[in-house]
Amino acid sequence: MIDFNSGLSYDSKDAVHASDRAHVFHSWSAQKLINPLPIARAEGSWIYDYDGNSYLDFSSQLMNVNIGHQHPQLVAAIQEAAGRLCTIAPFHANADRSEAARLIAEVAPDGMNKVFFTSGGAEANENAIRMARLHTGRRKILAMQRSYHGATHGAIALTGDPRRWASEPSISGVVHFWGPYPYRSSFHAETPEQEAERALAHLEETIMFEGRDNVAAIILESVVGTNGILVPPPGYLEGVRDICDRYGIVMIADEVMAGFGRIGEWFAIQRWGVTPDLICFAKGVNSGYVPLGGVIISDEIAATFDERAYPGGLTYSGHPLATAAAVASINIFKDEDILGQAQRLGTDVIAPELEAMKQRHASIGEVRGLGVFWAIELVRNRETREMLVPYNAAGAAAKPMADVVAAIREQGVWCFAHFNRVHITPPCNTSPEDVRTGLAAIDKALEIADALVA
Ligand SMILES: Cc1ncc(COP(=O)(O)O)c(C=O)c1O
Repeated sequence: MIDFNSGLSYDSKDAVHASDRAHVFHSWSAQKLINPLPIARAEGSWIYDYDGNSYLDFSSQLMNVNIGHQHPQLVAAIQEAAGRLCTIAPFHANADRSEAARLIAEVAPDGMNKVFFTSGGAEANENAIRMARLHTGRRKILAMQRSYHGATHGAIALTGDPRRWASEPSISGVVHFWGPYPYRSSFHAETPEQEAERALAHLEETIMFEGRDNVAAIILESVVGTNGILVPPPGYLEGVRDICDRYGIVMIADEVMAGFGRIGEWFAIQRWGVTPDLICFAKGVNSGYVPLGGVIISDEIAATFDERAYPGGLTYSGHPLATAAAVASINIFKDEDILGQAQRLGTDVIAPELEAMKQRHASIGEVRGLGVFWAIELVRNRETREMLVPYNAAGAAAKPMADVVAAIREQGVWCFAHFNRVHITPPCNTSPEDVRTGLAAIDKALEIADALVA
């Protein structure tokens, strides 16, 4: 029984749905064209509606519930923290905030010892570019096509996908370049190594044409998330680091989606042994139980603000409930080997199952990913690689993907799809059996895509 003293009973889906439709304004949506499913409860890798239907959460909501729903220790830690101190301004020191920052610095690459907390990923990126500009005294920021960095004014300007278009013209000084994508190479590369080499040459050329002394930062997702789960080819991130070093450019790794376990590492970039200057995080830091994000700052950039005020702040920077949740979550990661679980799901379950599915389905062009961060790219023709639906398709043009997603959902699996791709991003601690259940639902639904193969 949920009693809000409103006289409305929220025990049935009807009141939840009615008040939502009347009063909640939803993200990224034409308000009259959506029908949000009321969720009654969630546990582990499962969410439940009011009619008793269960759904396997194969998207970890928005790729953020990395340790699953309602983890008892994380819930208890938040309850305990709420009893202790619900809020305190950022200008005080606070135990939860101090410990969260210490733990995050401990797992970050060496030489990155300070954390600026935000309430989410977009704000982290906003602050990272501000720090880079002030540290270098330069203005331009290079960001990738095929990227998402958040929906605030600066973060959406960095974004390299159609979500940016409606906010243009946006902040000045952002220049987009092409990153590596071996399956659809913009550089006519035939091997991943060639792709890395040519993408780096293109980046360097872009810097030359923008003026090497004008570029403050290069921001990139260490593994591109929504825009394709694009795992960088060997040498690429190392090459970006080298370019940044040669031209005095700040390297910003946006780890909002790829960090905190998604690929089986604390931070995805650590897989390639690269140390950026700034790391932006959010989502998986505490599985979104309480909103939290932040920027991990290199010692060199932090020193810029030792004697000079940092001109940025947020009322909720380092909020005690959010940082208490981060502390509990990081400790759960260690106690339950969340990184190892994610790695093993990738190598032992998802990779072999997807390879087998690729043999069965002519509509699968490519499968790619690491840990619990995978995409199935659907095509109409394997030779031409024509996408199952066009780039940024909507309405009738997007129907084949909508049909695939609906068929997956009918089987009780909630997954994320983007353009012509189905993404596989369950919580890191999903059981192998549940992962197989989810993959089997996708396997069956792909018959719809196969029927469209020419
Ligand atoms: C890579 C990346 N950066 C930034 C963001 C924005 O984070 P938030 O929605 O918490 O502002 C996202 C969100 O999906 C993301 O995937």
